[in-house]
Amino acid sequence: MRKFRTYNQVDHDTGSELLEQVLDQRARLSQRLSSVGTIVAIASGKGGVGKSAVTANLAVTLASRGHAVGVVDADLNGPSLARMLGVTGQSLEDGEDGVVPAAGAAGVSVISMELFQEGADAPLRWKEPSSDTFLWQSSMETTALREFLGDVAWGVLDFLLVDVPPGTDKIRRLLELVPNLPVALMVATPSEMSRAVVARSLRMVREAEVPEVGIVANMTEYVCPACGHEEPIFTGNGVERLSSESGVSIWGRIPFDPHLAVSTDRGAPWVLEDPNGPAAQAFDALAERVEGARNPRAERVP
Ligand SMILES: Nc1ncnc2c1ncn2[C@@H]1O[C@H](COP(=O)(O)OP(=O)(O)OP(=O)(O)O)[C@@H](O)[C@H]1O
Ligand SMILES: [Mg+2]
Repeated sequence: MRKFRTYNQVDHDTGSELLEQVLDQRARLSQRLSSVGTIVAIASGKGGVGKSAVTANLAVTLASRGHAVGVVDADLNGPSLARMLGVTGQSLEDGEDGVVPAAGAAGVSVISMELFQEGADAPLRWKEPSSDTFLWQSSMETTALREFLGDVAWGVLDFLLVDVPPGTDKIRRLLELVPNLPVALMVATPSEMSRAVVARSLRMVREAEVPEVGIVANMTEYVCPACGHEEPIFTGNGVERLSSESGVSIWGRIPFDPHLAVSTDRGAPWVLEDPNGPAAQAFDALAERVEGARNPRAERVP
């Protein structure tokens, strides 16, 4: 059986300067993030529940409320945030201080693998050695995420939102890079299936002692565009159960609105198009809750 040593166990010069490189990257990451106010992970564990749509609409809502906002699309295989924030086709520039993020809707800064790919539909191909593909890919993903966080010229930000792709391992990876993550939002739909999967991710962030954790209930009810009547979409009360069983409160309830999907998916987050509608009101309430979140990282700064 092979024996792996961790970086910390390498105590002699390996000739590859691996240890120095890793320590240097860690130092760069924490230096860069020192100018970022509150980092908010938007995760779920479950796919397709609306994490990216919530990230895009929350980002522009926070920006409209006067904050400097950045967004990291941590989904390397199915990136969507550049598109949702209307910046597909832009090429990134290398600034003196690192890669300059693209400026999206409402001035939100965004970095996404989409901006590095030649065509929007081009799949990401890993140039891995023929063996150990899985191990290699996982380490490439960690490297890419570290670079998105640490090698981008974010400047001074009030909020940096990170859209975490489905899978509990992806949340764990972010927590390794940002061990003092202050806020995690878990997106869930009211379905029973969503409850079971999201519950596992919730347990993980609570075990990691993330100080502020909230549930975002997405697609709670359908609002008739013609008459404003609200009708529940899913039967059951999966989100309420999730909240009561985990002891984590619900920070936001986002209604299902077909315009939200059409508009957001083509690069115009719906809350900017219909700023007084039910979805925009729901995102405003969520943004207010996020603004009120305690941030121990900031409290340490004199
Ligand atoms: N509240 C909503 N009302 C209407 N459409 C929504 C709502 N939330 C999300 N959607 C739409 O549902 C689809 C799936 O959402 P999205 O891509 O944000 O999910 P995701 O959790 O990021 O998925 P993945 O796990 O694949 O990354 C998108 O077309 C999105 O615009
Ligand atoms: Mg997504």
